[in-house]
Amino acid sequence: MSPLTTIAVRAARAAGDFLLRTGERLHELRVEMKGPNDFVSEADREAERRIVEIIHRAYPDHAILGEEGGAQGEVGSHGARWIIDPLDGTTNYLHDLPWYSVSIALEIKGRLEVGVVYDPVRNELFVAERGKGARLDDRRLRVSQHTKLAGAVIGTGFPFKSQRHLDAYTESFKAVSLAGCAIRRAGSAALDLAYVAAGRFDGFWELGLQPWDIAAGVLLIQEAGGVVTDIRGGDQLMKTGNVVGGNLRVHQALMDAVKPHLGPDLPA
Ligand code: IPD
Ligand code: CA
Ligand code: CA
Repeated sequence: MSPLTTIAVRAARAAGDFLLRTGERLHELRVEMKGPNDFVSEADREAERRIVEIIHRAYPDHAILGEEGGAQGEVGSHGARWIIDPLDGTTNYLHDLPWYSVSIALEIKGRLEVGVVYDPVRNELFVAERGKGARLDDRRLRVSQHTKLAGAVIGTGFPFKSQRHLDAYTESFKAVSLAGCAIRRAGSAALDLAYVAAGRFDGFWELGLQPWDIAAGVLLIQEAGGVVTDIRGGDQLMKTGNVVGGNLRVHQALMDAVKPHLGPDLPA
């Protein structure tokens, strides 16, 4: 494991352990609304603070893009920027639903190099390093070998914060469902993507995600031999947040099912 990955893992575990402990006194947490159906708690903020502290202790001049703290620092000549979601699945967390994760990625000169997703409830650590593969603890990850949508298990997320893409999403949901898939909405996009990398989900699609939801999961899927693109099959997913992933065959089948329902105004 590279020193950069070691720091990412240390930070993810520290945040996850903090979230687990804090989850025992949920009723005491202060919660605010950032927007419709979009909550943030003290736990999200403190978890991010701890992650940034660990990263900056090791790499004081690295830039940060965190969900709660926004952009911090300049991307200097080293080109390093950490992309952090300290608690992916806040709605689950605040309802004591045991399905959430910590997501930390490192991008160097615009290219993802490290991706870590940590599920503290199951103590499962998903780690990807560019060119070195993806692992769940000591096990090497491969995407599933399922070849079609019929019989596939597909993860997704509903557009519950912004209703902007609701019609496009509903139509695409119908198409995927009619293709014979079992669809799961678990509530943490980062963990969904890690599950695609692990072959637990055959594929995933969601509209309107943010860079911190997907950065680590994207590298996990790529390093597990899968394909992850924007909704039109291109590479704009970190900009648009419209994401389709899976093994080569399922990714293509998902694209074929979803694309006709998106409408020309939906960004890639
Ligand atoms: C959310 C989760 C959810 C997805 C939402 C995200 P948050 O992140 O990833 O699965 O459907 O679009 O915003 O707010 O819990 O960090
Ligand atoms: Ca998130
Ligand atoms: Ca979050």
